[in-house]
Amino acid sequence: MLPCPIANENDSVSRPRILSTHTLFEAPRARLAEHFDVDYWDGPNRPPRAEVLRRIADKDALIALLTEKVDDELLAAAPGLRIVANVAVGYDNIDVPACTRRKVAVTNTPGVLDETTADQAWTLLLAVARRLIEGDTLARSGQWRSWNFDQLCGTDVWGKTLGIIGFGRIGQAVARRARGFNMRVVYHNRKRVTPEIEKELNAEYFSLDQVLAQADFLSLHVPLTPETRGLIGPAQLAKMKRSAFLVNTSRGPVVQEAALAEALAAGTIAGAGLDVYEHEPLIHDGLRRPNVVLAPHLGSATVETRTKMAMMAVENVIALFDGRRPPNILNPEVLGGARS
Ligand code: GLV
Repeated sequence: MLPCPIANENDSVSRPRILSTHTLFEAPRARLAEHFDVDYWDGPNRPPRAEVLRRIADKDALIALLTEKVDDELLAAAPGLRIVANVAVGYDNIDVPACTRRKVAVTNTPGVLDETTADQAWTLLLAVARRLIEGDTLARSGQWRSWNFDQLCGTDVWGKTLGIIGFGRIGQAVARRARGFNMRVVYHNRKRVTPEIEKELNAEYFSLDQVLAQADFLSLHVPLTPETRGLIGPAQLAKMKRSAFLVNTSRGPVVQEAALAEALAAGTIAGAGLDVYEHEPLIHDGLRRPNVVLAPHLGSATVETRTKMAMMAVENVIALFDGRRPPNILNPEVLGGARS
C-alpha cells in the first residue's frame, strides 16, 4: 500500500474525511483540524444508527465511541473506510475480523485510562461498603434528626480481602490501591502474572472459584469476549461470601444481571457497585436497591483521561494517513495491502 500523505490545512488536495461520532474536546479537535475534514456528530445523545450509516458513506476514517457498533453493515456502507479508531480500550463494539477482511485498520486506547478506571472501581467499592449514597440521600433530605449509634453502619474495607478477576493493567492498578487499605489481594487471570508483579502488588494467584470464595470485595477487570460473557452467573455468585460485595467496571455482560438481581434479593451477597450493565443504558429493575451503587458507565470519565483517549485515537488516524503504523493497531495484518 502506498502511503497516503496527509494534507495540511492549506493544501489544495482534498483531505481525508473523518466521521467523529462525538465533538470530543478542544485539543483533539484542533489536532484533527490540522489534517482532516471532520464531520462531527454534535447531537446531545448518541447518533441514531441510520445517521451513522448515512454519514459514513463518503468517509475515509471513523472515530467511534463504544456505543457505535462497527459491523459488516457499517463497513458495507463505507466503501472508502480505512480506519476505525475506537475511543475506548474495550473494543467489543467492533467486529475486528470483519474489519480485517475489508482491510480496515482498528485501533483502541490502551494504557491511558487504567488509573482513572481503577479509581472508579474504588469509588464504587468504598461507596457501597460505607453506604455513601444512602447517607447522601438522608443528609440532603432534610430528614436527618441526629447522629445515632447504629445509623447507616456499613462494612470495613481496610484489612479485608480484595478479589480481582482479570489482572491486566487495570486490575493491577486496583490492587496497587489496596495496599493503602492494608488488604490481602487474591486474583485470578487467564495467565498468572510474573512473580515480580505478584511481589510488588502483594497479590496471590488462585483459581476463579477460590477467589470467589475468599473475596470480601470482588472487582471485575476482564475484557468482554466470548469466554467472559456471563462469567459471573448464579453458580459463581453462590460461591461468594454472603457478606461480600461485587464491583464491576469492566463490561456489563460479564455479569448475568438477572442472576445478580436474584442474588441481591436473596442475600446471597451483601451488595454491589456497578458502572456497567448488560443492556446499557437499561438497568435491571432488581438492581435498584439501597445496597447497590449505580454509576452510568463513568469508568474513564475525567476530563484529563477522556482528552488523552481522544488524542490517542486521533494520533492513530494521523499515523495511518501518514503512511505510518498506527501505534495502537489491533489488526496489523491489514497494513500493506489495498482495501478489497
Ligand atoms: C471504557 O469502557 C473503555 O473500554 O475504554
